[in-house]
Amino acid sequence: MSSDRALARTIWWQNGVIYQIYPRSFRDASGDGIGDLPGISEKLDYCEKLGVDALWLSPIFPSPMADFGYDVADYTGIAPMFGTLADFDHLLAQTARRGMKLILDYVPNHTSYQHPWFTASSSGRENAKRDWYLWRDPAPDGGPPNNWLSNFGGSAWEWDATTAQYYYHSFLKEQPDLNWRNPEVVAAMHEVMRFWFAKGVSGFRIDVLWMLIKDDLWRDNPPNTAFQAGMPLFQSQLPLYTTDRPEVQDVVAGLRKVADEFEDRVLIGEIYLPLARLVAYYGKHLNGVQLPFNFQLLESKWNARSLAELIDRYEAALPAGGWPNWVLGNHDRPRIASRVGAAQARVAAMMLLTLRGTPTMYYGDELGMQNVAIAPDRIQDPLEKNVPGVGLGRDPCRTPMQWDASLHAGFSVHDPWLPISADADRINAQSEELEPTSMLSLYRCLLDLRKRYTALSLGGYRAVAACGDILSFIRYTQDERLLIVLNMGPNSAAFPLEGAGLAAAALLSTYLDQRIAMTPTHLCLRPNEGVILILETPLAAATR
Ligand code: GLC
Repeated sequence: MSSDRALARTIWWQNGVIYQIYPRSFRDASGDGIGDLPGISEKLDYCEKLGVDALWLSPIFPSPMADFGYDVADYTGIAPMFGTLADFDHLLAQTARRGMKLILDYVPNHTSYQHPWFTASSSGRENAKRDWYLWRDPAPDGGPPNNWLSNFGGSAWEWDATTAQYYYHSFLKEQPDLNWRNPEVVAAMHEVMRFWFAKGVSGFRIDVLWMLIKDDLWRDNPPNTAFQAGMPLFQSQLPLYTTDRPEVQDVVAGLRKVADEFEDRVLIGEIYLPLARLVAYYGKHLNGVQLPFNFQLLESKWNARSLAELIDRYEAALPAGGWPNWVLGNHDRPRIASRVGAAQARVAAMMLLTLRGTPTMYYGDELGMQNVAIAPDRIQDPLEKNVPGVGLGRDPCRTPMQWDASLHAGFSVHDPWLPISADADRINAQSEELEPTSMLSLYRCLLDLRKRYTALSLGGYRAVAACGDILSFIRYTQDERLLIVLNMGPNSAAFPLEGAGLAAAALLSTYLDQRIAMTPTHLCLRPNEGVILILETPLAAATR
């Protein structure tokens, strides 16, 4: 067997592509205006044809939906609005039948205030579950115990008159934080993982992993000296004592141990931290999560030099054996097509699917879906309601999937929970399926190339010096060398081939036509064009 074929047999979460589904917005089979599990099952053919390998579902558990499912009231059930456990089992079986994996969301930092654990905990100071949450006496003046702020606005402490103490909530008051220093909490939450793993779930995306442990001395957070008027209040402090505490690493290792009781499972951590602190979540001796989400692309300036630097810094920061990953969008951040524009979104797609590491796609980005402006009376997101007008609202990136040009975009027969984009008559799966140069066609081609060229999924990475608006790099195995050249600007640009000693043949342009322009010395890129070439010359000559 060639070394490349041996490489191709590496673990699925290394060579696969993850596709995030926001269940409320994917497909509504029941006709109540909210997406559901039978709806997702209906669309598995679409996912399979797209060429993704694993589906990650945002929370589907029973919940009062104060934070749209990130407030879980029962970790081992299914919210009736999404279906039943039988619907889930069917979805899992159908996903597996197509050779795809299913990843669930695990929300360990907090429960819903309606979770029976919190009902018990808040029923009296002597209750056996009192210490499962973070209860504190008031400060001497009767106010909150310290200055900690909620990420969703205001103090993070909520007064409970019945038991005359405050409880801590990193997010809404309807989302009390669990006490991960309590071994009973740890054991109960480990059982939750085992429940889903035993069913055949292939992994978890873990919500706000870096927040699980808070300072046990309850020290005030220091002020953020970079804070300016107009910024949301919670940014007025540095979350020194409420996030990324050293003890969290033991909790992470504990979660990983549970995952390792089962075969081939993956843990993906949601962690918004600077690089040096992010990579600590791979764990000492790689006993942390296998994929600490790398959100660098969500926040970077969109130009060749910044991105080239960012990729270099990320590659250099990875611990030995740590597997990289890349993300372009999720249910909390503006859609990529709105952030960088429709033309650059095609270049971004090529970048996401050719960089070294596991890519995570966000539903609808493969169609070029845009943020949708939400009229004030249609706002759903509690973050926008609590901290209005500063651009934190997440409804715009959570609107229903655009399946076709019919009423409600084929998402539902009912008026949907969030409005459908006005561009759904044009930007939708059905029309793009028929259009050979559509965004959907581009994503399919890129996903197909990743399957055909091991260099793209598992190969090494070498930067080629960024010049002007061009970002370029090489992906290689022993048998294959692919050059990716991305024009991140709105003007044509020439990329020197001869100078770099590159003899090459064209594989794919983001324009999806046959008009890739190459002279013996140059590749001539059109505005906002990305190109993948196969190299024929030795690697050493081609890289800096
Ligand atoms: C994570 C989720 C976000 C949620 C928050 C609180 O950041 O991605 O949607 O609101 O956690 O659970």
